[in-house]
Amino acid sequence: EGLATALQDFGLDHVPAEPNTYPAHNPFDLYRSHVTELLSQASGIEPKIIYPTLGKTVKSEHGDLQLAVQALRQKRKDMPEFAKELADKFPESPLVEKPVVTGTFLNFFFKPEPLAKLVLPSVLKAGPSYGFAAAQHLGLKDPADPSKGRKKIIVEFSSPNIAKPFHAGHLRSTIIGGFLANLYDGAGWDVVRMNYLGDWGKQYGVLAIGFDLYGSEEELVKNPIGHLYDVYVKISKSAAEEADTVKSAKEEIAKKKEAGEDTSELEAKIKKIEEEGVDQQARNYFAKMCDKDEKALGIWKRFRDLSIEKYKQTYARLNIKYDDYSGESQVTDESMDHAARVLEEKKVSENSEGAIIVDLTKHSKKLGKALVKKKDGTSLYLTRDIGEARQRVEKYNFDKMIYVVASQQDLHLAQLFKIEEIMGWDDISKKCQHINFGMVLGMSTRKGTAKFLDDILAEVGEKMHDVMKSNETKYAQVDEPEKTADTLGISAVMVQDMKGKRINNYTFDMDRMCSFEGDTGPYLQYAHARLCSITRKVVAATPDVADVDLTTAADLTLLKEAQAVNLVRELASWPDILLNTVKTQEPTTVLTYLFKMAHALSSSYDHLQVVGSEREIMIARLALYTAARQVLNNGMRLLGLNPVERM
Ligand code: ARG
Repeated sequence: EGLATALQDFGLDHVPAEPNTYPAHNPFDLYRSHVTELLSQASGIEPKIIYPTLGKTVKSEHGDLQLAVQALRQKRKDMPEFAKELADKFPESPLVEKPVVTGTFLNFFFKPEPLAKLVLPSVLKAGPSYGFAAAQHLGLKDPADPSKGRKKIIVEFSSPNIAKPFHAGHLRSTIIGGFLANLYDGAGWDVVRMNYLGDWGKQYGVLAIGFDLYGSEEELVKNPIGHLYDVYVKISKSAAEEADTVKSAKEEIAKKKEAGEDTSELEAKIKKIEEEGVDQQARNYFAKMCDKDEKALGIWKRFRDLSIEKYKQTYARLNIKYDDYSGESQVTDESMDHAARVLEEKKVSENSEGAIIVDLTKHSKKLGKALVKKKDGTSLYLTRDIGEARQRVEKYNFDKMIYVVASQQDLHLAQLFKIEEIMGWDDISKKCQHINFGMVLGMSTRKGTAKFLDDILAEVGEKMHDVMKSNETKYAQVDEPEKTADTLGISAVMVQDMKGKRINNYTFDMDRMCSFEGDTGPYLQYAHARLCSITRKVVAATPDVADVDLTTAADLTLLKEAQAVNLVRELASWPDILLNTVKTQEPTTVLTYLFKMAHALSSSYDHLQVVGSEREIMIARLALYTAARQVLNNGMRLLGLNPVERM
């Protein structure tokens, strides 16, 4: 409605809107529709043919939209001639310049003044929803009828193993998964954030035995994740020592037998270890857990609950909150039995020397043969994933499910999805996607002690604090330097992780990621903080500006400089960038854009002075920078970063 009035001022009597476009929320939709309309009227070519040919330009020299005339699929021999003809026919428009022809391309440049007048108020009005409002339809079950509700997606990510270190694979899954969950959220989906913990198996018997020997109640409560890991390391060592003892005893027995000596003492030693050693005790303990022995399960549950409490605090530092802490332990025997029956009935599985396998080589050589039940009847990681998937359908009835897991597990997930497919579980296999990612190389921190997410974040925070201290004058102005260093450190880690394509490996480089130079987290934070400081300075110098409504009071025709025009164009493209990100599912799509904007901002400050400029100009530029801050903020939050206001 506001848009219709604004367009009237430019002499347009209606809002151009091709089907399935959202001109009120997406400036590019408006312009694509407008150009389509004019070109269709001028050429007689149908709008539905023209619209999809209007692409975003890569270089700003080529304008804002570009059309390759071949793509119009008209029976014309001389394409350059055809391009010229179309350009000539294209009428005067209040929004775009006459198209510029380069070869067979038509290049459309948006007129700067109307663009600023359309985009800036719309950013300022929409605020945190700018961009996201244009993507809401993606999450609707039926975009034509919003009352039918939203689609549901499960994003499973992070999924560490209790009592084991939080390694690079978990770090990346956490960061990328957190981003994807935000992305679908922002695109109007109903998102379930799920953590699938490694919290079951014989090793939890080992842990319980270890806790009896080496555990401390006090330590457990204080630092459950670290303490359980310490206990696990100690008890594993005892188990390994026992295994060594058995091995050397066996060797000695062999020798003694040859020499005809007595071996009964050694045999007794072996027997004792085999009957009472850590390994056997752990087996017994885990058997009790499987039999639902209350005491055994109680202890295990306590470890799990305390660990989860601690995880929650750490995830909160990354702005992540889970809706569901699932885990291998949550997969019921019933669901695994049910899956086993289906596998058998559909002749998917077969018996192989007492074990149950699924021969996937029939479908694809590289999928190999998957073991689903061991000879001794115990289930496996894969079996649990099959049962868990069915449970998730029952619990959530999702429309899509994403597993964010390192590419080391490509085979595992490919097997999982294929098995579900040949089981006839279309309601699962057709909806699942594995989002994979490459490795982190050289992830050693200064102290070399970082094993848990908390340690990693603490070390990067310290490093960041050092970097900040190196600029004494600035450091003195920061209110809560430690807290800021912490936030900047987290941004450093996250941006480093999301900068490249997911599948690429990268090197964990503390110095580089914490630098204020180059495309880093701190640099992005600085761009945001600087924009915040501009507003603070303006208000300090001219307090009444705080009450000015920038959406209406700013005279945007004053934004004439090339830098200002360029910034407005960048701001206009955010909704389209977001839509594209839903397609690429790559955080780098967002980051590349944000860095481009940060660079455009850096090179604008010298030309677009705010404080000290004449009042009208000051207000117009303040509107521009406030809108830029909003878009940076929206992008950073989508990535899971906490934008800082001062640093
Ligand atoms: N806990 C596993 C690991 O650390 C990752 C779990 C991935 N998710 C799944 N559904 N299998 O390797």
